[in-house]
Amino acid sequence: MSNDEKKVRENDRSCLWHPFTWMPGYLKREPIVIASAEGIYLITADGRRLMDGVASMWLNVHGHGRPEIANAVTEQTRKFSHVSIFGQTHGPAAELARRLVEITPAGLNHVFYSDDGATAVEVALKSAFQYAQIKKGTTRTKYLALRHAYHGDTLGAVSVGDIEHFHHTFRPMLFECIHAPSPGCPRCEYDTDMTYCEMPCLEELERVMERHAGQLCAFIMEPIVQGAGGMLIAAEGYLKGARELCTKHGLPLIADEVFVGFGRTGRMFACEHEDVSPDIMCLAKGLTGGTLPLAATLVNDEIYEAFLGDDPKQCTFFHGHSYTANALGCAAALATLDLFEKEHTVAHVRELEKLLEKAAERFRELPHAGNVRFKGLIFAFDVVARKTPVEPYDAALRMGQRVCDAAAERGLLIRPLGDVVYLVPPLVTTEAQLREMLDILYDAVQEVTE
Ligand SMILES: Cc1ncc(COP(=O)(O)O)c(C=O)c1O
Repeated sequence: MSNDEKKVRENDRSCLWHPFTWMPGYLKREPIVIASAEGIYLITADGRRLMDGVASMWLNVHGHGRPEIANAVTEQTRKFSHVSIFGQTHGPAAELARRLVEITPAGLNHVFYSDDGATAVEVALKSAFQYAQIKKGTTRTKYLALRHAYHGDTLGAVSVGDIEHFHHTFRPMLFECIHAPSPGCPRCEYDTDMTYCEMPCLEELERVMERHAGQLCAFIMEPIVQGAGGMLIAAEGYLKGARELCTKHGLPLIADEVFVGFGRTGRMFACEHEDVSPDIMCLAKGLTGGTLPLAATLVNDEIYEAFLGDDPKQCTFFHGHSYTANALGCAAALATLDLFEKEHTVAHVRELEKLLEKAAERFRELPHAGNVRFKGLIFAFDVVARKTPVEPYDAALRMGQRVCDAAAERGLLIRPLGDVVYLVPPLVTTEAQLREMLDILYDAVQEVTE
């Protein structure tokens, strides 16, 4: 082991507290130390090349170490790295706002920047709340969200989230949120015959809207795929139906595209699958190609114009972060969007999806891979003790983690969501690389469940 690697390990062990990590478990193992990254590979301090099967927390788009993005950031550094946009503006922020308005669904004409997915959600929640206060009076103070939702880890985002394991500790601190059934078919709450589903989850959504009429200020959802809730792919038509219900009940629809945006589902934005324009949209993760923290919340004219009233106390949106519209992040985002155009990244994802379709057939034959599912460049399944009737493994066995450990041994770095094992590699992954990842995953499941 080199001295550099030794130093990293010592500093890590003594000073670093890791996110979403039970530290006693972490400290018992020797952590993987990443020294560099290129393309889809993470290169460890001892020279191993691991495939980045989760796109470094679902955000890497064009591969690691892209010179196009690095050069854009370097060039911007020479001009300035960060200046505040509280009351003034700058080129990269304004140009990126224009380009985001151009590529997002029709009607989203105004961009508010923040730093990451959770803050994009906070901006969405607060702007919807204030819009309701300005336009509809003070009774509309509650949010409607979905069960199994995940929108980030700041307190507003946690309040609208619904992942018991992550959120239970914080319940007493949270504001009230009404939750409707998840449209995610793998966790369907109804006894639905999957070949003929009348979407009772959508009917219930309407009943909830009616029950809480006059109290709700927005409905927030992850369109098409609920990510951290377990890679739950929604019933087809739910998103469109939800849009129609929001319009009917005068409720702004917030589409949290932090995970699914920027090509992940085979469309630039997941809302495009059902031709839906939300009233508010949250973007982060892939916005900078996975290089720098930057987020954007887009709103439609109606919401933006509510803030154009004469009373500054009522109509100023009192929200902002020191690094709002960071110029380096904006430069990285502009270079990322250029690469999307130049390399036809989204069309490439649709090609890769065909490969996942074939792989799904193979995985369905595995006796312990349940609910095999895919969308765009998302591939997931539940590791189960028995498929019919479904019987999960005892959580203490940590089967999802064991499959991921077996995959890491073979050169694929992935992280489970409980016993949900999934692949969401960088969008730039080639067909050959994706085949290799799937083969590794298949062998890992077989080895662990045999
Ligand atoms: C749908 C969704 N919203 C929000 C977030 C929070 O993003 P961040 O981790 O950048 O705060 C995530 C993160 O995984 C997410 O999947």
